[in-house]
Parts: sequence; structure tokens; C-alpha cells
Amino acid sequence: MKTITLNTCSLVLGLALGGGASAGNTVPPAPNGIELPAGYKDWRVIGVSHRTDNNSLRVILGNDRAIEAARAGETNPWPDGAILAKIVLKDSIHEHWKTATVPGKFVHAEFMRKDSTKYAATGGWGYARWLGQAQTPYGKDADFAQECYGCHTPVKDNDYVFTRPIPFP
Ligand code: HEC
Repeated sequence: MKTITLNTCSLVLGLALGGGASAGNTVPPAPNGIELPAGYKDWRVIGVSHRTDNNSLRVILGNDRAIEAARAGETNPWPDGAILAKIVLKDSIHEHWKTATVPGKFVHAEFMRKDSTKYAATGGWGYARWLGQAQTPYGKDADFAQECYGCHTPVKDNDYVFTRPIPFP
């Protein structure tokens, strides 16, 4: 009986530790404690954008909650639990088709997590960004989110979100 209990314990412990490692959490959290969302590279697309002032492509992805909301047109406000990711890539020219702009250098991945209670001070969104291939957390201290929040206020009436979901047929 004792052996069975011990085995069960080590199995549970093994799963817990394994789960942490496979969640990719070797990347340090942002200074406000937000962790890099596990599996974000497999999220689905909400929208895209291209900035001509700094020559970069952006892909906006969402977790399942965000995708459901985007497809249903329920994005003002976005529901609690929705996470939006923005992947920023430098413009690059396709070597076989000069007028095609394709992903170049990976600039950063950044996130907005909706929790209207926890993040009430920043419009209901928790902000976080990780820089470059090294995925270095952005920001000196937790106050970095004020910069994000401040620049997102022009779209306050759209729940602080700029992205227009793709108008799928
Ligand atoms: C100088 C202004 C500015 C700052 C500062 C800023 N953003 Fe944004 N953000 C934008 C604009 C403009 C867009 C929409 C255009 C685009 O896709 O780049 C955007 C889009 C986003 C999106 C996609 C969802 C949406 O609102 O469209 C996320 C996620 C995001 N920003 C996170 C952050 C985080 C995290 C920070 C702080 C670390 C931050 N932003 C700081 C201007 C800003």
C-alpha cells in the first residue's frame, strides 16, 4: 500500500515538473509577473497589420477564448480570459518576388490579457512583451505597462484594441 502511494506521488510530481518544462517557461516573466503564454505559437490568427513608419509586419493571434469572441464579433468588450498576441517582424523582400514583403527578423512578441478585475488600473488588460530571439522581458519594473496603456488610449472606445479582426466570409 505504502509503495503504491509513493509511486503515485512521484508520478504526480513528475507530471507537474514535466508540465512546467514543456510549457516553455524557461523564459523569465515580465516585470509585472505575467508569464509568456505557453503554446502561443499555435494560436489562431485574428488579424494582420503592416507599419510603414518602421517597416514591420504584425500578426495578431488569439487564444481560444479570444478567437471565439473575434469570430462571434463580440469584441467590445473582449471577454475576460481572452489573450491577444502580436508578433512583430521586420519587413524583408522575397528573393524570388521583389514586390512581396515577407517576414524578416523577429522583433518581439507582446500580449494583452483581459481580466477586468485584476487589471482594472490599465483598462482591464494586463500587458507584457518579450524581445527578440532571446525573449528578454521588456520593462524595468511593473510600471512599464503604463506606456502600453497610454498608447492604447486612442482606441479606448474599442476596449483599448486597435486590431480589426479579419472579415472572413
Ligand atoms: C507608441 C504606441 C504604442 C505603444 C507604446 C504600445 N502599443 Fe501596442 N499597439 C499600438 C498600435 C498602433 C497597435 C495596432 C497596430 C499594430 O498592429 O501594430 C498596437 C497593437 C497591439 C496589440 C494587438 C492588439 C491591438 O490592440 O490591436 C498588442 C497585443 C499590443 N499592442 C501590446 C502592447 C504591449 C504589451 C505594449 C507595451 C509593452 C504596447 N502594446 C505598447 C501602439 C502601441
